[in-house]
Amino acid sequence: MSWYSWWTGSLGPRAKKIQTNGESSGEKSEKQQGVALVIGVTGIVGNCLAEILPLSDTPGGPWKVYGVARRPKPDWSPDSPVEYIQCDVLDREQTLEKISPLKDVTHLFWVVWVNRETEEENCEDNGRMLSNVLDALLPNAENLQHICLQTGGKHYFSLFDAVAKNQNYQPHEAPFHEELPRLPVPNFYYTLEDIVFEAAKKKEGLTWSVHRPAYIFGFSPGSLMNVLGTLCVYAAICKHEGLPFRYPGNITSWEQFMDASDAELIAEQEIWAATDPYAKNQAFNCANGDVYKWKHLWRILAEKFDLEPLPYDGDGFSLAEVMKDKGPVWDAIVNENKLHPTKIKEVGNWWFADSMLNPPWGAVLSMNKSKEYGFFGFRNTETSMGQWVDKIRSSNIVP
Ligand SMILES: NC(=O)c1ccc[n+]([C@@H]2O[C@H](COP(=O)([O-])OP(=O)(O)OC[C@H]3O[C@@H](n4cnc5c(N)ncnc54)[C@H](OP(=O)(O)O)[C@@H]3O)[C@@H](O)[C@H]2O)c1
Repeated sequence: MSWYSWWTGSLGPRAKKIQTNGESSGEKSEKQQGVALVIGVTGIVGNCLAEILPLSDTPGGPWKVYGVARRPKPDWSPDSPVEYIQCDVLDREQTLEKISPLKDVTHLFWVVWVNRETEEENCEDNGRMLSNVLDALLPNAENLQHICLQTGGKHYFSLFDAVAKNQNYQPHEAPFHEELPRLPVPNFYYTLEDIVFEAAKKKEGLTWSVHRPAYIFGFSPGSLMNVLGTLCVYAAICKHEGLPFRYPGNITSWEQFMDASDAELIAEQEIWAATDPYAKNQAFNCANGDVYKWKHLWRILAEKFDLEPLPYDGDGFSLAEVMKDKGPVWDAIVNENKLHPTKIKEVGNWWFADSMLNPPWGAVLSMNKSKEYGFFGFRNTETSMGQWVDKIRSSNIVP
């Protein structure tokens, strides 16, 4: 059994304490200081790692943190102690030049991805990014101990639309657990895992953990897949234009049990796995630990934006289609409300919301293994959703 007892679950990193069997995390930090390299530091989970790792009571810390992304350091966390490195890790030369000098890195957190037209291309480019970074680190970072690889629940069903396109395989049936075999289709998560397994063979003592969230509730205006941020933008547009607040998803997501993953919870699980010997060389699902129905969440979201939700008519519609000409409307909302300047294509990931809210079946991740190995973190999804909406709003992304 792990020596960590549990993570307490209240949202907000500063409110968080890890409880251990008598050993205070303060004592531990004097003995050990981890050096984290977070690739994708401005993403939906990267942001949380950047906030939690440097705190004095974080296990293995307070950590020194290098954070990598392509765009300039965003201004939403100006006081962050993270050493920010602008680097496109798809570019091999740039990666070797910028990552090789980081010789003190002890832990790699992989919370990044690029999206391509086909899954074969996803395998190619996401695999290349990870190989580039490992080729820079392995010969130089002598104390590299652990790789946290974030993938996701698609490990168990591949892409939703792949199911429709490819009749030759059956996705696994929920609840999904970690020991289910891989599906016989390309999936860039499998490619990334294989690269990590090979790296661990090359360097003695190097361990890994894989983290598989459901869709993530969190904060990142630069994320490729931010379902909640996207729905906030939709709500703001409905409010601005006096449109009905209609649920875009199908009857499955409206009526069936679903799960979600709070971004901070994922960061907590990744840090737990990075520092707890019992969690090494394992894959873990990471969901909030409860279930919900969108018919309940929709009402909460409507209240947050002072909107009247329409009764569900059972006919999902495509946000990508309905929102395709709303760029100028979003620009006007940003101007009128003096919001943080964003373009609609950055904050409205319509394709992702369409995909997540129109699943062909209810999908739930089992959290049994994670608990059995000693990670007891959880979130109340309704509370988590409300708090992230508040965060998105207080960061001036939506009015
Ligand atoms: N979001 C979800 O709901 C969700 C759910 C389940 C699983 N997952 C999985 O979680 C993993 C991580 O995704 P995420 O959603 O956490 O990421 P994300 O929010 O989209 O963030 C990606 C981060 O990586 C950076 N980045 C992208 N390309 C880069 C490159 N070539 N070089 C350097 N930095 C780069 C981005 O900043 P720049 O654009 O500035 O470079 C950003 O900081 C993926 O495998 C994803 O499939 C996500």
